[in-house]
Amino acid sequence: MDPLPPLPDGRNRARTGYVLGGLAVLFVALAMLFLSTMREHVKPRKAIPLVDTKFLATTPWRQTYADLVKAKADLSDYDCYGCHEKNKPPTLRFDENQKIIVPQEHVNIVMGHGSHGRNNLCFNCHNDKNLTTLQVRDGREIGFDNIPQLCGTCHGPNYRDWEAGAHGRTSGYWDRSKGDIVRLSCANCHNPHSPRIPTREPAPGPHALRAVEESKPHDAAH
Ligand code: HEC
Ligand code: HEC
Ligand code: HEC
Ligand code: HEC
Repeated sequence: MDPLPPLPDGRNRARTGYVLGGLAVLFVALAMLFLSTMREHVKPRKAIPLVDTKFLATTPWRQTYADLVKAKADLSDYDCYGCHEKNKPPTLRFDENQKIIVPQEHVNIVMGHGSHGRNNLCFNCHNDKNLTTLQVRDGREIGFDNIPQLCGTCHGPNYRDWEAGAHGRTSGYWDRSKGDIVRLSCANCHNPHSPRIPTREPAPGPHALRAVEESKPHDAAH
């Protein structure tokens, strides 16, 4: 059996004392550093404002012709033959870049259907022979109160999804014995003349676990 190691002599004992003392000071310093940074983490955070009621509104942001009729609102924009002559379809005018010119009387209309204005021709949707109706690819006439039928002839997959309830919004009753289901029209969400839905500011998010840098708002025009 090996003999036990010899006890340290006086000089070694003193050295051990210095090392232990030094370590104790170091640990106290580290603990203080830790506590000081902890206090930084619990500094009060900016209060999140209550959700703006505009984020809770369920009324669609656009009214269609059918909604205007129901609300008995002003329908003068739809009185096409108050200004146009019957049996004389308006002529379409274009600038030198083949971009359609929207006349002064229709300034409320901003055309931008498709990323390159691919569907900006009025008579792709309006009926040149009867301005008070819409027309689809096969020549069928459709009333202004039946917009999804029009959109569906060119946007088949979206129309299919909309009918199935996967695109758009369905309200009303699950239990059909209690009442009907209601589907919002394409034109409640998409402006037929410029259907891309404008980006909207998001509602405020929750607090992050740690303080994060304030993010800048996204560039709205992308
Ligand atoms: C306040 C009067 C007024 C009303 C209401 C009106 N229009 Fe017009 N519209 C005009 C005038 C003026 C022009 C330009 C001259 C022209 O082409 O006859 C025009 C031009 C047009 C054009 C040609 C656009 C172009 O780019 O050249 C179309 C298509 C058209 N109107 C469709 C309609 C339809 C569809 C309605 C009804 C839903 C309607 N308008 C209601 C006054 C009116
Ligand atoms: C005559 C065919 C036609 C009809 C009718 C039509 N669209 Fe379009 N739509 C197009 C084309 C073409 C594009 C461009 C696709 C592209 O750029 O890739 C487009 C693009 C779109 C887009 C994508 C956004 C954009 O501007 O690129 C939306 C949303 C849209 N249409 C909605 C509608 C709605 C809603 C209706 C009914 C009011 C409708 N469309 C009727 C042909 C049509
Ligand atoms: C993609 C199909 C589409 C095209 C292309 C289109 N329209 Fe329309 N337009 C509609 C639909 C659908 C409505 C009914 C809107 C509603 O109910 O919200 C409408 C409504 C209107 C109205 C009455 C309401 C208003 O906003 O004044 C006028 C006038 C009109 N369109 C003129 C035009 C003219 C002029 C052009 C060409 C420069 C044109 N439209 C191109 C689908 C189209
Ligand atoms: C409740 C609102 C709402 C209704 C109703 C609605 N859409 Fe949309 N639609 C959207 C949103 C949101 C987007 C995605 C945003 C964007 O790309 O502009 C979109 C995207 C689209 C696109 C862009 C292409 C794609 O698939 O990304 C087309 C085309 C379209 N919708 C057609 C239609 C048609 C046709 C109808 C009616 C049969 C309809 N939408 C009804 C909200 C709606």
